[in-house]
Amino acid sequence: MESAHQGPGADENPDENLFAGSRFLRACLRKPVDRTPIWFLRQAGRYMQEYRDVRKHHTLIEICKQPDLAAEVTITAAEKLGVDAAIIFADLLLPLEPMGLDFEFQAGEGPVVHHPVRTAENVRLLRTDRVQDLDYVARAIQKVATHFRDRIGVIGFCGAPFTLASYMIEGGGSRNYIETKRLMYGVTSTAWGSLLDKLVNVLTEYCRMQVQAGAEVIQIFDSWVGSLSLVDYRDYAFEASKRLIRAVQQMGVPVIYFGVETAGLLGAMASTGADVIGLDWRQPLDEGWRAVGHRHAVQGNLDPITLFAPLEIIEARVGEILRAAGGRAGHIFNLGHGIVPATPVENVQAVVRMVREFRLEGAHA
Ligand code: CP3
Repeated sequence: MESAHQGPGADENPDENLFAGSRFLRACLRKPVDRTPIWFLRQAGRYMQEYRDVRKHHTLIEICKQPDLAAEVTITAAEKLGVDAAIIFADLLLPLEPMGLDFEFQAGEGPVVHHPVRTAENVRLLRTDRVQDLDYVARAIQKVATHFRDRIGVIGFCGAPFTLASYMIEGGGSRNYIETKRLMYGVTSTAWGSLLDKLVNVLTEYCRMQVQAGAEVIQIFDSWVGSLSLVDYRDYAFEASKRLIRAVQQMGVPVIYFGVETAGLLGAMASTGADVIGLDWRQPLDEGWRAVGHRHAVQGNLDPITLFAPLEIIEARVGEILRAAGGRAGHIFNLGHGIVPATPVENVQAVVRMVREFRLEGAHA
């Protein structure tokens, strides 16, 4: 395996091959690239006919648990779009099962956890010794990595401790995160700290399996961290995310750390040491990048609903993002959040073309 990756600001290795690695991997490390790499959050999903065809015969969980199917869905989406990276087809909630929490996806409702975690005793009963049960994800990654070799990047992923804890506690999606914050603020109980410790342990081993199977980059989804104030992020979520991110970097791969509605948290999120910070669409990319700091790469940040607009508007927005990035090394083009089901697939493909063909005025050919 590769040597430990030290995160942003680490000294460049002078012996390193200047041209090594996929365009996507190089951008994660803020190395120069021939053009901006692009991929899409939730690029394999219901907006795509090929995915809907597979879903006619299999549930979401069945696809995740059958490495042939998960690999096929991952590869088909990446090839149909012509993107620079493939994210493994899996779901954020898969680690809940080996920890002892059953869940299901209910049509139109999203995930439902049957016995949510609410007490210190519930936390105590969570298991951390069965991460190997998630081996099916590693086997799918192996297939995808073998298929693409070095042509495009292969991304593994997991949820961040805070976001996964919120699903475990709320039992599903939430508007106000009342139960999560109740447990989090619990002054007389160590349940919150203990829950995050268990999650960091499980997620570290889960990421290790993915890296050993061939994931070149790990994305950590802290999708709901924007529900926290900056002080609460610092007091209750930051340390666990930082520990997980540093542990993954020690495995030799860069980490993308992503959340939405995070404008007020970006500086703190960057101080976890993540190589790349995911930006949502609510602020201009250059402002977001300034808040993150230019020692980190950034990923983003087209509004996924702009994909429903006429092509001229899409093209204008894509151009604004690329001009805001200004040709600086370390920008990965993406959406600010996942593609939604009714999105026209041809508009997604058009964005790939636009990013490929974009030339910054005044830049060298
Ligand atoms: O290309 C890809 O990105 C696919 C792989 C992927 C899935 N889920 C498959 C999936 C990834 C990276 C995820 C991550 C995930 N899962 C997140 C983090 C990303 C984010 O959106 O912030 C979250 C919060 C989840 C939990 C989850 N899974 C929810 C809330 C839902 C229901 C919402 C919905 O769109 O119905 C899911 C279901 C899910 N996971 C789908 C897909 C493609 C929906 C399609 C289906 O049911 O087949």
